[in-house]
Amino acid sequence: MNILVLNGSPRPNGNTSALVETFTAEAQKAGHKVSVFQIGNRDIRGCKNCDACRATLNGNCVQKDDMQEIYPVMRECEMLVIASPIYYYSLTGQTHCAIERIYAFERLPKLKKAALLLTAAGFGFTSAIQTYKDAVIGHMGAKDLGIVKAVGSQSKSVAKQNEIREIVKKI
Ligand SMILES: Cc1cc2nc3c(=O)[nH]c(=O)nc-3n(C[C@H](O)[C@H](O)[C@H](O)COP(=O)(O)O)c2cc1C
Repeated sequence: MNILVLNGSPRPNGNTSALVETFTAEAQKAGHKVSVFQIGNRDIRGCKNCDACRATLNGNCVQKDDMQEIYPVMRECEMLVIASPIYYYSLTGQTHCAIERIYAFERLPKLKKAALLLTAAGFGFTSAIQTYKDAVIGHMGAKDLGIVKAVGSQSKSVAKQNEIREIVKKI
């Protein structure tokens, strides 16, 4: 299965990256193709609602930022993993912007499955989980394979690694 992982943390060696590394290693071991984009430190802008994608550009976005590298992978992915730290009770800005920009083609055409990997200092998971459930599971129609919530150093714990292994088993 073609899997796209969006890591919304700006920190390459942070807590979210620890969850992403476990997921990637386990999924690759199981034979899946995994593409990871660390969008938290990339130029990912919000949707401008210019509607050029729908009016004239046949599903392509007019904005020339780092989403242009991700769009071709989005079009082919069969599983989407959203990984993000909690910032102010929600997903990070870049994570939300990347989800918004799917508007260019409304839904990921080959998407079948999804998972959510979150880290936080301790509180505020609710809104991020609701966005994932509404946008990715409800709107895009993906099957939820699991949600991992890690507080601080828990992201490197055997317990969280085992939760991720359970998600990979369901792919
Ligand atoms: C701008 C900002 C906002 C944050 N807001 C929250 C929050 O609302 N709730 C919380 O528990 N932690 C919050 N944190 C802490 C991070 O979610 C936490 O340290 C996370 O594990 C960082 O992930 P990373 O190491 O992958 O970057 C915030 C951190 C930053 C920098």
